Amino acid sequence: MASLRGAPPGVFEIQQSSSFQGIQPTTTHRYAPENNGQVSHQEAPEEVSDFEEEEVDESVREDMNKLEDTFPGISDRFRLVNRIGEGTFSTVYKAEDLLYDHYDNDWDIFGQAQAQEQEAWASPPSKRRRVAGAHGRQRKARYVALKKIYVTSSPIRIQNELELLHDLRGCRSVCPLITAFRIQDQVVAVLPYFPHTDFRIQYRTFMVADMRHYLRSLLTALHSVHEHDILHRDIKPTNFLYNPDLKEGVLVDFGLAERHGAEYASPCLCTHQSYVRRSRILSSYYSKNPPSGGLSGGYPKNDSRSSRRANRAGTRGFRAPEVLFKCTSQTTKIDMWSVGVILLTLLGRRFPFFNSADDIDAMIEMASIFGTRRMKTAAAMHGQIFETNIPTIGEKGYSWEKLVKWSSCVEDLTESEQQATRLLAGLMELDPTKRLSAEEALQHEFFTSPVHHDVEWGGNPEESGDSADEDEAGEDEADEVAML
Ligand SMILES: Nc1ncnc2c1ncn2[C@@H]1O[C@H](COP(=O)(O)OP(=O)(O)OP(=O)(O)O)[C@@H](O)[C@H]1O
Ligand SMILES: [Mg+2]
Repeated sequence: MASLRGAPPGVFEIQQSSSFQGIQPTTTHRYAPENNGQVSHQEAPEEVSDFEEEEVDESVREDMNKLEDTFPGISDRFRLVNRIGEGTFSTVYKAEDLLYDHYDNDWDIFGQAQAQEQEAWASPPSKRRRVAGAHGRQRKARYVALKKIYVTSSPIRIQNELELLHDLRGCRSVCPLITAFRIQDQVVAVLPYFPHTDFRIQYRTFMVADMRHYLRSLLTALHSVHEHDILHRDIKPTNFLYNPDLKEGVLVDFGLAERHGAEYASPCLCTHQSYVRRSRILSSYYSKNPPSGGLSGGYPKNDSRSSRRANRAGTRGFRAPEVLFKCTSQTTKIDMWSVGVILLTLLGRRFPFFNSADDIDAMIEMASIFGTRRMKTAAAMHGQIFETNIPTIGEKGYSWEKLVKWSSCVEDLTESEQQATRLLAGLMELDPTKRLSAEEALQHEFFTSPVHHDVEWGGNPEESGDSADEDEAGEDEADEVAML
């Protein structure tokens, strides 16, 4: 048996042998096993398990059989139920934890909620099956999510994800890691299964009160993550599993997460005082050779400057402006921008809200909202020049209120929507130093003095064809100020 190099002792054990027998529960297999890990296959539970049998596609069944073949003995520990997620980096399965009762599961903050959930969402009797054991006792089925990380992910990345999850154990609204195991290059992380509703189903029906519960839970998770100096880097609805009945969600997928300042790079211009930034920009090639007619016709020939590299991990549509501008000193504020995009999706009733094919497109989308003036300022902060000759992109941009009204096809916003829109402005702030932190966002009036004037959304997404005019000077001045 071996543990991942450099992994914190006692977090998990993994094995190199080709048999799953080697990872029978031991003292390190999970946090504080109740019986010092002395569980053998003979001691496997013999109670009656009252579980739901889900209908599974033939292809999914084959896939689950393959997993069982890769990890011989896994079926003594887990009964695979279904495939619940197929992401870029992993496949996730729902499984019944057959040895749940053999451990002290104090860490399992979901246990109670899950039990309630199973009662509330019980399948019709015809679909229920009972597995009788020798003693005929009835056992409540406990579910876990088995995340099989693709072998294409680098070992360092996998280790990083598991270590960060370990560091974050006990943080509210962050999905804890139960354990992990490996056979050769195959790694599986075991997480508590969290019942949730697909964002695509719920986002259009959300009242502002629902948005408040959703965001409070997400921001609580992020507050803890950021307190640990960890950037999640991939905040988006599929990585926040929200349960509208519990009004709680859990943050998952730390596959792209990193510790603040983990990557060595020379500090970005944004870390310097504004006078230093100004002098650097003034002495730049661009300032010394201004394009004739105000707009350059293309790229400089024989550009000798070294290309700039910065971490751009994340999902398109959710990347913060500083990530697009290749800032080399990214902070936890990149996650706060992504929270803003989720709020914009909820208020604007459109998913995905941003739909760019690449980073340049993404900048154009942002410029269409913020206008060129603010984009230029934001780019300059990171030592970049923003230029566009797209005629529809104006100089001033639009107010958030106008954008939300236009996007959700309503003529007026309710008072509670206006309040949510003010929070939106604080989150979708181009300058990361002015953007709200998770802690500050939780102190926003949206949470501390909520306006309860809420009406059901009556907009029709099909009627969203007309374009909005750019705000004229003077008009919507308050909104412009809110955005600055
Ligand atoms: N603990 C859990 N409980 C319930 N479902 C889960 C759990 N963890 C993951 N899932 C499901 O599996 C999906 C993929 O999980 P995760 O985001 O961790 O993997 P990924 O491969 O990194 O995905 P992606 O590349 O799409 O971001 C989630 O969106 C969710 O639907
Ligand atoms: Mg994911």
